[in-house]
Amino acid sequence: MSRAAKVVASIPVDDLSERQAKGEHKRLVEEIARHDKLYHEQDAPEISDAEYDKLRQRLKAIEERLPELVDAASPTQRVAPTPSTAFAKVRHARPMLSLDNAFSDEELQAFFDRVRRGLERETDLKPDDEIGFACEPKIDGLSISLRYEDGAFTVGATRGDGTTGEDVTANLRTVKDIPHKLKGRVPKAFDVRGEIYMERKAFQEMNARQEAAGDKTFANPRNAAAGSLRQLDSDITATRPLRFFAYAWGEAEPRWWKTHSEYLKLLENWGFRVNPLSKRCRTPDEVRAFYRKMGEERPTLPYDIDGVVYKVDRIDWQERLGFVSRAPRWAIAHKFPAEQARTRLNGILISVGRTGALTPVADLEPVNVGGVMVARATLHNADEIERLDVRVGDMVIVQRAGDVIPQVLGYAPEQRPKKTHKFEFPTRCPCPLETKVQSEEGGVVRRCTGGLECPFQQVQRLHHFVSRNCFDIEGLGGTHIENFWRDGLLKVPGDIFRLPDKREEIEKREGWGELSVRNLVAAIEARRSISLDRFINAIGIPLIGEATAKILAQEYGDAEGWLDEMLNAAMQRKKHPDPVKKEKAAAEVGESYGRLCNVEQIGVTTADAMCAFFTELHTREVIRDLLRQLAVQPVERRVVAADAKLKDKTVVFTGELLAMTREAAKARAEELGAKVTDSVSKKTSLVVVGANAGSKARKAAELGVQTLTEEEWVELAR
Ligand code: IVH
Repeated sequence: MSRAAKVVASIPVDDLSERQAKGEHKRLVEEIARHDKLYHEQDAPEISDAEYDKLRQRLKAIEERLPELVDAASPTQRVAPTPSTAFAKVRHARPMLSLDNAFSDEELQAFFDRVRRGLERETDLKPDDEIGFACEPKIDGLSISLRYEDGAFTVGATRGDGTTGEDVTANLRTVKDIPHKLKGRVPKAFDVRGEIYMERKAFQEMNARQEAAGDKTFANPRNAAAGSLRQLDSDITATRPLRFFAYAWGEAEPRWWKTHSEYLKLLENWGFRVNPLSKRCRTPDEVRAFYRKMGEERPTLPYDIDGVVYKVDRIDWQERLGFVSRAPRWAIAHKFPAEQARTRLNGILISVGRTGALTPVADLEPVNVGGVMVARATLHNADEIERLDVRVGDMVIVQRAGDVIPQVLGYAPEQRPKKTHKFEFPTRCPCPLETKVQSEEGGVVRRCTGGLECPFQQVQRLHHFVSRNCFDIEGLGGTHIENFWRDGLLKVPGDIFRLPDKREEIEKREGWGELSVRNLVAAIEARRSISLDRFINAIGIPLIGEATAKILAQEYGDAEGWLDEMLNAAMQRKKHPDPVKKEKAAAEVGESYGRLCNVEQIGVTTADAMCAFFTELHTREVIRDLLRQLAVQPVERRVVAADAKLKDKTVVFTGELLAMTREAAKARAEELGAKVTDSVSKKTSLVVVGANAGSKARKAAELGVQTLTEEEWVELAR
C-alpha cells in the first residue's frame, strides 16, 4: 500500500471525503478479493479472521454512506468467492447462506431488538412474550451440505459461492462422523448441513506426520480441514482426522419438526453428532450467560471456536423473519475477541527471507494461547519493535486469532524487569557470511547484503521454488531442503531435477525409504514441464509475486523471448545508470527496458530491481541450468478477434471513472482487443479522460491523441 493509501485507510469512514471514500472502497474490494482467494482457494490466509471481518465491516460502512458504490461485484453482495474447478459442481437445492456477525454488546442488542420488532409486526407476539433461542458454539471449520435420499447418503458438497459448491462426496464418505444410512423416520429427500473441522490435537499430530514425511503442513486446524477435504485422492482424505457436527438443513421434504432444538434431537436419533454444548436459552440474559460460559470454556475445548451462533428456535418465526441478501434475519454469529496470553520474551531472533529481508521474531517462553502452544511470534520489523517498545525480559501480550502467525501486542509495564535495554537491530546478518545489514524503504526493511551468495537466502529460495504456487513439488517440505543443502545434494534450483539420479544415495539417508524416494522422484519428473508464469514466480525475482508473474507471462509469451528481453533490459539499464521517468524509459534507456517499465503493475522501481537481478551472473546461470532440464510451456495469449473494436489500439485511462473501477475499465478494453498502458505517447490511440484528470489529458491534447469522455467510453465499451 502507498503512504497515501495507508493514511486514508486509518481515517474513520465518516471523516473520509467522498473521493477518499471511493478510493478506499475500491481498495477494500480488491483487498477482500485477494484474501478470499488466499483463504478459500489456497488455504493459506495472510490475516486473521478478525482482521478480515474488520475489512468487511469498513467496506459495509462505506457502502452504507455511499450506496451508489454497491455493485454486484462487491463482496458485500456475495456469500463467498466462486468455487474452483478441480471438482464437479453441485447446485444446492437451497442456497447455503452465511451469518451476520455481532462483535459487541450493542450489536447483539440490536439483533435482539430487530428480531422482537419483526416478530411483533409479523406475528401475534406480545411485548412480554419470550422468544427462545437455540444457541450453539460456532465451530471454526467449513460448512458442507449432505444429500440424503430415502435415508441413504448420496451427494456431499462444499458451500462454494452459496449457490454452487464442489462435489466432495467420495471424500466425505471417508469421514466417520457422517452416517451412510440414517436410522428411524427421515424425510424422503433432504440436505443435512453442518461443519467439517479438525480437533486441535489431531491437527498437531497430523502436521507432525506431514512434516516428518516432508509434506505440506497447515497453519491451523481450519486450513488443514479445508485442504484435507479438497484432496483429489479420497484415500488421502481417509487418513486425515476430519470430524463433523450437524446443525442445519437445506431442502427437507417432508419436514415435521417445529423448532431448531427439536431438529437437533432428530439429528442425533438419525445418527449424526450434534454439539453437546448446544443449549436452548429463553431470554437475552440467558443468551449472554451462554456466551460468557463458552468464552470461558473456549481454551479447554478440543476444537477452535470463533464465536457463538444464536438462532430463533421456532421455525415458523424463522420463516416470518426471512433473509436479507446473504444472511438470515433470525440468526447471528456473536464473535469472540482474538485469544491472548501473557508470557516472557526470552529473546529476539532475526529470520532471513528469500530476498534477504530480515524479520525480527519474538522467542517466547512457550505459552498456551487458546489451546495452542505458542513459542514464536512475528515482530514484523524494527519500526514495530520501536513502536511497541518491547524489550528482552518483558512480559508480553501475545495474540492468536485462530489462524496465521501469532502477534505481539505489547508488554506489561508493571512487570518490566529492572535492567532492560532497547532492542538494537543487528548490523550484521545472522547468516554465516555475517554480511552488513542494509536499510531500505525509509529504514523499515532491513536486508542482508549477501544476495545470491547468502546460504540462508539460498535455502529460502529453494523452499519458495518448490512451494505450491511455484513448482509445487510435494515431498520436499519440512527440513528436507535444509538437510539436502547442508550435505551438498541441493544448492541451486536445477539440482532438484538432478535428485532423481541420486535416488540410491537418498534412499540410504535417515527418514527416507524406497517408497518415499519413488514418490519424490515422481513428483519431480511431473514438473519437468511447467507453465511460464509458474516458472517466473519460482525464480524468486525481488518484488515479483504470483500475480505479476502471470502478467509478465502474458506480456512476453514464452521463456526464450522473456529471458532475451530481461537480459536486454538489464544491459540497457546498466549502460544508463541515471534515474529515469517511466514515460521516457524507452526513449532514454532502451526499448526492452521501456517495455518492461510499462508492463501493468511494474514501474521503474520494480523494473530496476529486476534488472539488478538479471545483471547477476549467478541468476543467468541458474536459469540456463533450469532451461536445460525443463520444458517451459508458453502461455496462451488472450486471443483477439479480428473484428475486435479496439484491436491493435493502445488505450490510456486517466482521471476518476465513475461508472466502473479502473480495473474493470482496463479489463473491458483488453477484452475489446486493446493494449492498456499507463503513459501517453505518440503511439497512444485513445485516452479516456475521467473527472479531475491532470497531466495525461494535457499531454494527449498536446500530442493530438484522440480523447474520449467517460460517457463516450461507456458507449464504446457497451
Ligand atoms: S448456521 C443460515 N450454525 O459459520 C445459517 N453456522 O458465518 C447457516 N458455523 O457458513 C449457518 N458453526 O460454516 C451455523 N452452529 C453453527 C455453526 C455455523 C459454525 C459456520 C458455518 C457458516 C458460517 C457462517
